[in-house]
Amino acid sequence: MRTSWLRLMCVASVSLFVALTVVGCKDPTAPPAPAASSSAPAAPGSTPAAPMAVSYQAAQYDPIHFKPAIDKATDRQCLACHAEVLQPSVRKTSPAGLESATAKAWYQQISTYQGGQDTFHRRHYVTAYAKQVMELHCNTCHQGSDPRDQASGSSATAQPDVTLRKTVVPEMSCLKCHGQMNWPVMGLPGPWPQFRTAFNNNCVTACHSVQRTVRHQVNYLNAKAIEALAAKPNGGDVCYGCHGGRPWYRIVYPYPRHPWPNMPPETPAWAKNRPAQSEARFRLAIAATPAPGQGEGAKK
Ligand code: HEC
Ligand code: HEC
Ligand code: HEC
Ligand code: HEC
Repeated sequence: MRTSWLRLMCVASVSLFVALTVVGCKDPTAPPAPAASSSAPAAPGSTPAAPMAVSYQAAQYDPIHFKPAIDKATDRQCLACHAEVLQPSVRKTSPAGLESATAKAWYQQISTYQGGQDTFHRRHYVTAYAKQVMELHCNTCHQGSDPRDQASGSSATAQPDVTLRKTVVPEMSCLKCHGQMNWPVMGLPGPWPQFRTAFNNNCVTACHSVQRTVRHQVNYLNAKAIEALAAKPNGGDVCYGCHGGRPWYRIVYPYPRHPWPNMPPETPAWAKNRPAQSEARFRLAIAATPAPGQGEGAKK
């Protein structure tokens, strides 16, 4: 009974997870190999580890999916099993029959959006624009995947901070780049689209060359490239893209407020509870030398 179930799982795993490099499905009675093998950090620049002799279940419960191992995981390690998430796999038509080649959604209206429809993971990881402005890693977003308990809080061992099945905490990741623009606190007369021509569609010349100039010092953004692109004609679309122009939320993200040169001494009321630094796990060392373990993902 147990054996046939395992066999079924093996067949399912092969058809569902073509790219999954687990072996050992042939003999379901064999004891599972230690699953921790994949969690040994690969040396930077080394080739992906050879396929591991682990069962599907062991792979699913691989410690790399859980804290604390997931914090140290490299993209290369995740991709050894999950290569399929970066494969182009957009449907030709939506389920309702709309052709993807001719469809443009509200979050695809900004001028930086280039090329045909692509998948969610590819738009953050492999498309040209994503590579220019960001350096996201799997664990920038993924903070765990507990297949037993993906609605958190229902058992003593559940990860309390994982939102529903998402395996990702949206308000700590997506919202940073897909919230609304907080134009009232900036003292703008109204929403950016109404006034951008008045500001020559440039966020930096009028304001952000002096205001909040200490920004983007995090390991998943290419701060220099962002400023260079934002200095070009219509560069406001670069900034606005992540700060209101690709909104998935009706709320704003409460960005940290890093002290900047000539910062006014008084803190405005709206900023009273803002942190003065980015989250620790993303913070860049001021000395600009990349910390060990940073940027050793598959893109390197
Ligand atoms: C040893 C192989 C292996 C490694 C390494 C691995 N995974 Fe997995 N992962 C699996 C298997 C097997 C499943 C179960 C898939 C299923 O049942 O659909 C899974 C499930 C998941 C899921 C849930 C999928 C869903 O549809 O619910 C996510 C998210 C995930 N993994 C992310 C990651 C991330 C991020 C990393 C790197 C930190 C990683 N995995 C490393 C094998 C692996
Ligand atoms: C921008 C944030 C983000 C990044 C970066 C990211 N993911 Fe995901 N990933 C998500 C979200 C959100 C989902 C959907 C989760 C859900 O519905 O439960 C997802 C789903 C998945 C799944 C489930 C299968 C699927 O396609 O729905 C796997 C496996 C996965 N990601 C692996 C990875 C790997 C490996 C990497 C690194 C190459 C990665 N992800 C990078 C946010 C991200
Ligand atoms: C660090 C900033 C950043 C984070 C964090 C981020 N995104 Fe994005 N997202 C972008 C950028 C930039 C683009 C536009 C990419 C392009 O134009 O090629 C984008 C595009 C998208 C798209 C459009 C894809 C398409 O095919 O047009 C979706 C959907 C999306 N993001 C959802 C999410 C979700 C859900 C999360 C959280 C799991 C998330 N994003 C986290 C920056 C981010
Ligand atoms: C790829 C997405 C992306 C682009 C493009 C982008 N930002 Fe950001 N911005 C972010 C994220 C994410 C944060 C939060 C980083 C952190 O937590 O420290 C942020 C933070 C900020 C902050 C808060 C600064 C502080 O005190 O920490 C300001 C101000 C800001 N951005 C302005 C801009 C301006 C101006 C531009 C154009 C020159 C721009 N952003 C372009 C994603 C982006």
